[in-house]
Amino acid sequence: MNIQTLKGFRDFLPEEYRKRLYVLNILRSVFESFGFEPLETPTIEYEEILMGKYGEEGDKLMYKFEDNGGRRVALRYDQTVPLSRVVAQYQSQLPIPFKRYQIQPVFRAENTQKGRYREFIQCDIDTVGTNSLYSDAEILAVVFESFKKLGLEVLFKINDRALLKDIPNKYLTSLDKLEKIGRDGVLNELGNKGLETQQANELLNNISKSKETENLNKIIEAYKKLGYPKESLEFDPYLIRGLDYYTGIIFEVVLRSENKSLSLGGGGRYDNLIGIFSKQDIPAVGFAFGFDRVVETMEELNIFPEDLYTTEVLVTIFSTDLEEESVKASSKLREGGINTELWLDANIKLEKQLKYADSKGIPYVVIIGPDETKNGMVMLKDLKNNKQTALSLDGVIQKLSS
Ligand code: HAM
Repeated sequence: MNIQTLKGFRDFLPEEYRKRLYVLNILRSVFESFGFEPLETPTIEYEEILMGKYGEEGDKLMYKFEDNGGRRVALRYDQTVPLSRVVAQYQSQLPIPFKRYQIQPVFRAENTQKGRYREFIQCDIDTVGTNSLYSDAEILAVVFESFKKLGLEVLFKINDRALLKDIPNKYLTSLDKLEKIGRDGVLNELGNKGLETQQANELLNNISKSKETENLNKIIEAYKKLGYPKESLEFDPYLIRGLDYYTGIIFEVVLRSENKSLSLGGGGRYDNLIGIFSKQDIPAVGFAFGFDRVVETMEELNIFPEDLYTTEVLVTIFSTDLEEESVKASSKLREGGINTELWLDANIKLEKQLKYADSKGIPYVVIIGPDETKNGMVMLKDLKNNKQTALSLDGVIQKLSS
């Protein structure tokens, strides 16, 4: 037996997972502050729901298989197509506009590298059912606000799919790789797809000459009116976004200061996707945070708060005959709203219990020895500065909740 995980699939041990929860909680609270509501969809969908919606690359990288009942199924590749299915399926029950957030793993059979996994978390916000420019601008605003709350200064690269609509998808797939493989690489690929060098050069030159559309300018105005800085948006005519379903504004987020090629998230308007499922076009716009890349970036920049550990106190056990005092004290502390861990084995020396608390980063321990029991007190020891104070349990609750 190989004791290992599959390539591109990861475990998250507590120290790492706490950081992920920190980011998740901030994102969720910003999403809710703009009126977005939670949604969850299944990991597995019928293959036909997902296939053909993303383009060549998506169809290739999708995990597809036959389930035990002989059905053709696929793993969630993003959260936009499942959302579109949900909208079509529950149309009469959903409020319009439908503003939802969704935080779930997605699966892509990619070549793995740093920041590129096969199972990763996306955090999506989408607004369905309106063409209002404020819905596009608001998505940008939520994203900007989220990164600000996380402590990251970001830049949006924006473009309009309308500018690219005459270019066949197969060429767009190659153009999308400009940053990755450079101009020569793109010219080479376009050549392999049948374009003469001169035509390919012309295509690239024409793109470089395109200007912001009126639609983009109006969205930028709306973004400004919402109170967000215009300087955080940068028109990039070469921004393609690999997915087939976009129809209007497209955008991607990079760090303002460094590594401008690492996309921390991306999105755009897709007005024709839901129509594939509902027979009636329903406009929509949204964005997905590449959660894992956000966490990694924050780690690299060292901007996580120092102490993310959530247990506030360890109640130690002094001896077998005083065990019950500790058990009762731990319940009382918890009732008082203090995150409390109770030591579980009276046969282990107190010194070891203190070491355990210290190694886990628990800031306080409570010790209840014979003297404390006699006086109806407990000893509260602050492990950081090694100071201890005799207090009543209420006193401990008061001190630790302040
Ligand atoms: P996407 O650009 O395919 O868009 O993915 C969004 C983000 O997910 C990327 O910017 C990147 O940060 C992250 N990501 C993509 N692939 C990987 C990977 N293999 N490992 C780690 N992170 C990755 C979408 O999926 C659209 N559904 C976004 C959207 C929502 N458009 C409208 N609404």
